[in-house]
Amino acid sequence: MEMNYGFYLWFIVILLPALALHYYRRKSGAARLPPGPRGWPLFGNMFDLGKMPHRTLAGLAKQYGPVVWLRFGTVNSMVILNAAAATELFKNHDHTFAERTITHTMKSHDYHKGSLALAPYGSYWRVLRRVCTVEMLVSKRLNETEPIRQRCIGNLMNWIGNEAWREIEVAKFVFLGSFNMLGNLMLSRDLVDPQSKAGSEFFDAMMGLMEWSGHANISDVFPCLRRFDLQGLRRNMDRDIGKALAIAAEFFKERAQEKEQQTGGNRTTDFLDVLIEFRGKGKDEPPRLQERDINIFILEIFLAGSETTSSTTEWALTELLRNPEKMTKVKAELANVIGKERRFEESDIDNLQYLQAVVKETLRLHPPIPLLVPRKAMKDTVFMGYHIPKNTQVFVNAWAIGRDPQCWNDPLSFEPERFLGSKIDYKGQHHELIPFGAGRRMCAGVPLAHKMLHLILGSLLHEFDWHYESPETMDMDDRIGITVRKFVPLRAVPKKARL
Ligand code: HEM
Repeated sequence: MEMNYGFYLWFIVILLPALALHYYRRKSGAARLPPGPRGWPLFGNMFDLGKMPHRTLAGLAKQYGPVVWLRFGTVNSMVILNAAAATELFKNHDHTFAERTITHTMKSHDYHKGSLALAPYGSYWRVLRRVCTVEMLVSKRLNETEPIRQRCIGNLMNWIGNEAWREIEVAKFVFLGSFNMLGNLMLSRDLVDPQSKAGSEFFDAMMGLMEWSGHANISDVFPCLRRFDLQGLRRNMDRDIGKALAIAAEFFKERAQEKEQQTGGNRTTDFLDVLIEFRGKGKDEPPRLQERDINIFILEIFLAGSETTSSTTEWALTELLRNPEKMTKVKAELANVIGKERRFEESDIDNLQYLQAVVKETLRLHPPIPLLVPRKAMKDTVFMGYHIPKNTQVFVNAWAIGRDPQCWNDPLSFEPERFLGSKIDYKGQHHELIPFGAGRRMCAGVPLAHKMLHLILGSLLHEFDWHYESPETMDMDDRIGITVRKFVPLRAVPKKARL
């Protein structure tokens, strides 16, 4: 009798739920997780990734297929490795995976609460996304702000012109140029002007922020270790976000005073004006944006737009230097369309098919955010026949997809010609080319990035002839931080090509 009682208890507490789960999974057709390498007890696959996770993960497709399962400490992860699986994700499961994973460093000063890139998928994200895409980066506003970008590119060309005939670190100059451009679009000020103390302090703090947010953090895989902050990343982030937010708050205060005293003159409306003047419509929108959220938004634009554009430009120039016949072609097109008398203008972009192909080809081979910004499953779901539990983090390997021989002929060679006469674009419709992601959480800055990339690269090529000692032996390794950039920075000599 006693044994029977024990059996019933065992049946009810353990066997019944297990059978129910088994039945549920069979019914939903997804009894299993995707395949993947066996991990270590406790640590999972933490030590399998190496220094270049996008490369290591790409290599797993051969053995496990296009959807791979990994575990990092306590965090379940799914990796998408080909265009067909990416299409399935973005077309049929975009909503389920529209949440973001938030790292411990990005919780510093509650940054994640005001951030568009990290906001939970919901009404606040929708508001920020609308402000960004409909009010800040819409064609009309972008056209109005063209003179600002033109002035900033003029400055960048002059900085480089002052160094002509000497070897320069290209990415450093381009980074300063992009940062300054974003500073002028956001805040109407030159943040890299050596005369501006606030500008250079802001710049330094933002450099720190980029550094700390790009590091892998043990606290993210073992949340129980967070309070020890073993790598000191959170401490550093607290310091630098704190500084950057304090300076942004000063910029905000000055602008509020300027508005009160109406001393703005006839300055072009900048992004800060748009954020301050935002008024919510409907019950899901706040009546105004909070000062703190505006300041976080400002940092976000720098974070999202400066490294990405400068790293892409560095790779483009690197590839052109290694492929002199492509360099000759792109320069000939620029000379033909623009001539030698004037500078590159944004209105030229549509007439420069080969330059556009060079930018696409660079982003195919060197997407600056190779695993995109990780998504997270909002609920248990069935994806391509696999059971994916709620909170699984999802990486889409845009780097692997851009080099997949099933999508691209001779995928490792730099062939801008493949895009001539092709409809393939990076605006989220063609999942074999997704440097900006796709779906709801796709990059909100594509229209601006498109203009900046062509303007910067086109001007560098139009104004200067570039020389590199031995392009055949150029080091092409990459290193990962907030973006992937060249491991050995490109140092090349600019020679003036235009008077
Ligand atoms: C070469 C330049 C750039 C590249 C390659 C790039 C790439 C990306 C990628 C891969 C994502 C994540 C997409 C996803 O999850 O599917 C993203 C998100 C984002 N990007 Fe960009 N980006 C660039 C420039 C910019 C610029 C210039 C801005 C702003 C002015 C910007 C603003 C954003 C924002 C706000 C998000 C978050 C969107 C959201 O979560 O809803 N990006 N970007």
